[in-house]
Amino acid sequence: MGNIVYVNLSKTIPIEKDLELQTPFHQKRIKKLTNLYHQKETRISMKKLYTPKDFINIEGRNIYESAAHFQMFIDQMDNEKANAFDLTTTTATGANVKIIDRYSGKELIAKSFVSSNYLGMNMHPKVKEAAKNVIDEYGVGTSTTPLIGGYLDIHLELETKIAQMHGKEAALTYSSGFAANVGVAQFLFNKSDLAIVDTFIHASMYDGLANTNIKIFGHNDLRYLEMVLEKSKGRYRNMVVIVDGVYSQDGDLPKLQEICELAKQHGAYIFLDDAHGVGVLGKNGHGTCDHFNLEDEVDIITGTLSKAIGAIGGYVAGSAQLIKYLRHLSRPSIFSASLPPSVTAAASRAIDVFSEEPQIIRTLWDNTNYARKILNDNGFDLGRSESPIIPIMVRDDMKAKIIARKLLENGVYIIPATYPAVKLRDSRLRMNISATHTKADIDFFCEKLNLIDEEIKFKMLKSSQ
Ligand SMILES: Cc1ncc(COP(=O)(O)O)c(C=O)c1O
Repeated sequence: MGNIVYVNLSKTIPIEKDLELQTPFHQKRIKKLTNLYHQKETRISMKKLYTPKDFINIEGRNIYESAAHFQMFIDQMDNEKANAFDLTTTTATGANVKIIDRYSGKELIAKSFVSSNYLGMNMHPKVKEAAKNVIDEYGVGTSTTPLIGGYLDIHLELETKIAQMHGKEAALTYSSGFAANVGVAQFLFNKSDLAIVDTFIHASMYDGLANTNIKIFGHNDLRYLEMVLEKSKGRYRNMVVIVDGVYSQDGDLPKLQEICELAKQHGAYIFLDDAHGVGVLGKNGHGTCDHFNLEDEVDIITGTLSKAIGAIGGYVAGSAQLIKYLRHLSRPSIFSASLPPSVTAAASRAIDVFSEEPQIIRTLWDNTNYARKILNDNGFDLGRSESPIIPIMVRDDMKAKIIARKLLENGVYIIPATYPAVKLRDSRLRMNISATHTKADIDFFCEKLNLIDEEIKFKMLKSSQ
């Protein structure tokens, strides 16, 4: 990192000016930090750490000026050779990838831990064959929406399998998991309703709730949830509690049993986004509700076909009447073309493979437990993870980016999860384990991580917490 220390002052300091300095509050803060570093006899200079939030809705700049201004964010990462985002991969996403390195222009070979391809279904021979087989008969697209001619028998087959997988009467597919969350939440809930949501639900759900009353409860904070439910009872047309099945940045689960009980006591519905639960949890990968045996308690389940299922698309599952209601009125379904045949057939086949080859899910968990044990034994802070999503806490935004870059130079591809995806003090590397990794891949990763930790100290020993 040389002798530059990046400081986040994004909330109050105008963007272009560094720390020469504006408000008394910031002058005081900088002095404190500077003294601290001088005490350590380290000569440093401090620079404002840019985050993407600094470049959204900039006052007084038009769209082209804003876009030009955003280059400062990219430049700051490039100055540290720390831009791990937006790389071009020349292979399928999987355990072993080739990537074009933006700094050298060379092709790098790396072990990859970036994709939510938990079961390797994108490259499974049965799944690829299913996709190829339908192209001759149905072509590559439908060119119309499901409601007006774009609904094929293979869509019906896929939706039937999804409904069965979640123990629900019916399901409806969308072009992505994002579209499913937006489409369902936006249509079902408005100003007469209250959505009570765990703070860590996915961005797409927040977007879908833009026209609803929202109360956010701290992650799995049952006491606060109960308080909100109690205070809000009888004041809204619908109350709905919204959680994820597996949280995408921390890899932990909701306290679903208790949440369902509280919701039931107070007459609220439960809406669960199972994007990271399907293929990972439950019998034959049937997801989080199956894992907790709470399929009947959860009213609405959304999910994606793009993670463990290995394709693209999203869905909602629920009662037959609710699904029909959404099928006829939810905007991302009625105003958007249906899923392409190849994707539909591939997703459908992948769900079958979950139960035909249960050893794939066992391997995923075997790998997950193996990686977690080594990283734990090596003293890394893995947060609350209980799934194949393993955060490795760094707690410094720029450091996380630099570590990711150094790992890439050492043959490991991993994405830093940084602000605003997580809080600044919660920056981390997010490791996604897959059944397609070998133990040797995981050993390789851990060895390189230890090596970089010797250079850039970031290990958070549990005892120091
Ligand atoms: C929890 C969660 N929900 C929904 C989505 C959106 O899924 P998709 O990629 O299919 O749009 C994601 C994807 O990152 C996710 O992590």
